[in-house]
Amino acid sequence: MVACSCGCGEDELTKQLEKIIDEYRGQPSGLIQVLTKAQNLIGYLPLWVQTRIAKGLGVSLQEVYGVVTFYAFFSLIPRGRHKIAVCAGTACYVKGTKKVLKALKDTLGIKEGQTTPDSRFTVEVVRCIGACGLAPAMIIDGKDVHGRLEPEQIPEILEQYA
Ligand code: FES
Repeated sequence: MVACSCGCGEDELTKQLEKIIDEYRGQPSGLIQVLTKAQNLIGYLPLWVQTRIAKGLGVSLQEVYGVVTFYAFFSLIPRGRHKIAVCAGTACYVKGTKKVLKALKDTLGIKEGQTTPDSRFTVEVVRCIGACGLAPAMIIDGKDVHGRLEPEQIPEILEQYA
């Protein structure tokens, strides 16, 4: 953790989290907004973050945990700087999702759902990403669609995110 520059003893991340919570303090209806902002700040939602949010908004920790585990967008574990979502929808699956996943596994040394030790990549398997005409496809960071994938293209694509 990085200590706050003002010398108050609280770490910088915690101070920023408290600022986010302050916007919705005592307002349970702000839970999803606060969780989203907190995850954008920290990268995931560990227990200490959920506890502070629960206390700040006046909801139970169970309720916070329930929301975090309900929405796939939220994560309880650290995720990489780049999120690779490999499509396993029908069109992609038929055209080679398994080969794409194997190439990612061989190149990065991780399985689906895992993050590389250097926190660079997280690999996830998702359903149709709306690029069926480009099957098999994957999307990186929610915006870069890579389609008609061949396993041998994977190392070169990953290099773009060095
Ligand atoms: S099935 Fe893969 S993009 Fe639609």
